[in-house]
Amino acid sequence: MLLNYRFGRRRFQTIRQVPAAAMLIWLAVILMVSLIGCGVSARETKGDSKDSLSLQSKGLKDYYSGYFPIGVAVNSRNIQGPEEGLILKEFNSVTPENDMKMGPIHPRQDQYNFSASDKIVAFARAHHLKVRGHNLCWHEQAPSWIFKDAQGGQVSKDSLFARLQSHIQTVVGRYQKDIYAWDVVNEAVSDNPSEFLRNSPWLKICGPSFIDSAFLYAHRADPKAELYYNDYNAVIPEKAKRVYKLLKGLKDRGVPITGIGIQAHWSIYQPTEAELRNALDLYKSLGLKIQITELDVSVFPWEKNHRALLPKDNVVYKGRLEDQQTAFYKMVFKVFRDYKGVITSVTFWNVSDKDSWLNQYPVRGRKNYPLLFDSMLSRKPAYQAVTDF
Ligand code: GLA
Repeated sequence: MLLNYRFGRRRFQTIRQVPAAAMLIWLAVILMVSLIGCGVSARETKGDSKDSLSLQSKGLKDYYSGYFPIGVAVNSRNIQGPEEGLILKEFNSVTPENDMKMGPIHPRQDQYNFSASDKIVAFARAHHLKVRGHNLCWHEQAPSWIFKDAQGGQVSKDSLFARLQSHIQTVVGRYQKDIYAWDVVNEAVSDNPSEFLRNSPWLKICGPSFIDSAFLYAHRADPKAELYYNDYNAVIPEKAKRVYKLLKGLKDRGVPITGIGIQAHWSIYQPTEAELRNALDLYKSLGLKIQITELDVSVFPWEKNHRALLPKDNVVYKGRLEDQQTAFYKMVFKVFRDYKGVITSVTFWNVSDKDSWLNQYPVRGRKNYPLLFDSMLSRKPAYQAVTDF
């Protein structure tokens, strides 16, 4: 067979001539590639080859190893999907996002569902990650049976205390070896500034002492566990005063509480640095540990209530919003580092912008960009801002 190859101005006309021509081309290619390679490695060895290598292998947890663990909220799907590698590279602590809440883990009085939470705990154990348990007593995502008696009426106060105790004993007891810290009571302080505690079924049926009791039950179930009160807007000056009042009362009554979980569902508009520092000082003055438990930084102003999607919700992130968010993240991590020793953990709420709960809350379908990793799981400029110190 006669083959016609044109290479420059030469023409190779027989099959026997082809290998010689191909070899020439290959030699040229190999020479070019190795020259380029030498250039790159020469540049690296000159300056920062060691640095760039270690930079590539460093994750958030490594940058912050002298400060506090860096955690992430997970579900049982993202610990085995494409996010698994990212989780293991960047974080050394996990919080089950939903799987340990009372509704999912204890759907009926006589039925517990440990399958998802067991998976997360086994994953953490296998990879030596710390686990924060979340949460033991909350008015949301509570199973409907918990507040009802056998006839469907309201459960009695005594029964509700007994149910809470049995729930806490069972769940905390099960994970005693693996979970070092629990969010014991979640969001008990009211959203209404003129009210102290939230008028939840827990408060209505049990009275305010359900908070003390939940901590006592958790302490009995695992005397070594760290126990936290966890809430949002806990650095906004007005609410911080009421959260402080609650915590001071618990301390004064000798309730076994380790610290406050500041959820930190923040936005690029709040809190200010001064508000953050003042709140940290306030809680620190009680001798409590502080954990940042649910960090994300929305690019929209804070809203609590669900509403429909509006045209204004479709924003351009690249540019002003991204810059503002980067500066905000830089500021808050600088403050966190300044409170090293008092802040004992910082946990992000979800892995990446792809699956943040803020894509559905409070506006279903509103795309938000609250985390350090974008929807492709790549590091964002905010990542550089929090690791460049
Ligand atoms: C609160 C709860 C979390 C979670 C978030 C939304 O902050 O503490 O468990 O439900 O809301 O994901």
